[in-house]
Amino acid sequence: MKAPHYDVTVFGATSFVGQILSRYLLEEFGTRGKLRWAIAGRSESKLLALRKSLGATAGAVPIVLADAADEEALGRLCDQTSVVISTVGPYALYGEPLVKVCAQSGTDYCDLAGEPHWIRRMLQLYERAARKSGARIVHCCGFDSIPSDLGVYFLQQAAKRRFGQPCTHVKMRVKAMRGGFSGGTYASVLNALKESAADPRLRKELANPYSLCPEGDASRTRQPNVKFAEFDADFDSWVAPFVMSAINTRIVQRSNALLKQAYGVHFRYDEAMLAGRGLTGRLTATAIATGLAGFMVAGAIGPVRSALARIVPAPGEGPSPKAQEAGFFDLRFFGRTEDGRSLRAKVTGDRDPGYGSTAKMLGQAGACLALDVARTEKPGGFWTTATVFGERLVHRLEAHAGVKFELLQDP
Ligand SMILES: NC(=O)c1ccc[n+]([C@@H]2O[C@H](COP(=O)([O-])OP(=O)(O)OC[C@H]3O[C@@H](n4cnc5c(N)ncnc54)[C@H](OP(=O)(O)O)[C@@H]3O)[C@@H](O)[C@H]2O)c1
Repeated sequence: MKAPHYDVTVFGATSFVGQILSRYLLEEFGTRGKLRWAIAGRSESKLLALRKSLGATAGAVPIVLADAADEEALGRLCDQTSVVISTVGPYALYGEPLVKVCAQSGTDYCDLAGEPHWIRRMLQLYERAARKSGARIVHCCGFDSIPSDLGVYFLQQAAKRRFGQPCTHVKMRVKAMRGGFSGGTYASVLNALKESAADPRLRKELANPYSLCPEGDASRTRQPNVKFAEFDADFDSWVAPFVMSAINTRIVQRSNALLKQAYGVHFRYDEAMLAGRGLTGRLTATAIATGLAGFMVAGAIGPVRSALARIVPAPGEGPSPKAQEAGFFDLRFFGRTEDGRSLRAKVTGDRDPGYGSTAKMLGQAGACLALDVARTEKPGGFWTTATVFGERLVHRLEAHAGVKFELLQDP
């Protein structure tokens, strides 16, 4: 039996998002409170500088050293903690050894991976070990994909209470959001474009909406997918593709599969951005769709990708504290039952989605795993936020992370 010193250890605490998360843990949980936590990474000097910038003492915020490629050091890190929160990315480049060690040692794990092909690889390689050891592995605990996964969960709970049945078709539409991107996020996106440009099998896998569902999962309904500008009558608005739908839709489908098709065997789900009505809406949606397609095509071309990598923020860089503070997101959900009844909900967040808000969601996910969810109830395996946390994380996010889940009246 492990007797860990810490409930949660932040691995990659010196990353752009890891620093915001460490500050949040300090503000939210203090150093002698309910949650015992530590910071970890490969560079002692950077971790010491981070601790100093937090104004914390050695005893208050302990440091653990480990390189992402050193399985022995990762094993020592895992021995000391119940949960590892990892922000060491791109995960497809650096993430595998930690998932392996967590799965084998029975250590719970959360991250911000947004790379479906890497998550699928981790599932194939380590799900059996996690089941055996008792480790709960939870990917996608940031803006992708908590608001989508828990937003659908929240809407479906309400549909079951109100209609006695789930919504078999749900749409998520981004009404508004303000925020930027960090170097780590650009590095992850450019690496995913590089890998898929080189491998046709991977492109096929990325196009499969059920790529993260267990083998033999019953749902194989054709999924809607907004690829171009189109008019959405349910929102009375033009819509454009939403870049994060590539991961969010896969996670929501996995939740449905793990919940034994609680949202319906023929459940359909898609995401898009609202662009407004009339000609302006149509032009805006077309511009977004064209810009996104252009970025994807350009990023697949080696020399253009290298040029892009030189102009985007470097690892460790990202939106300013002022921009994080001014950021927000507002997501709208529309669900329709098999017999045509409908329900609307919204999920909002009070900081920029990718960093200020993501750090709070990730911290609460780690705390929820360490403090709220017993192994007797949720045993080892690869979970999603809706299936392992559900209501408990909704409450934590509403109480402590500036995220709100609300039902809306039909307009
Ligand atoms: N899902 C979401 O909503 C969301 C939002 C934001 C970010 N992200 C993802 O989160 C990840 C972090 O993003 P970021 O911008 O914060 O990253 P970043 O600033 O570039 O930081 C990367 C981190 O990885 C660490 N690292 C790299 N190689 C390592 C190794 N061999 N051993 C140990 N540590 C190593 C770095 O350590 P040093 O400081 O020592 O160099 C640093 O702490 C990215 O994958 C990004 O895509 C996801």
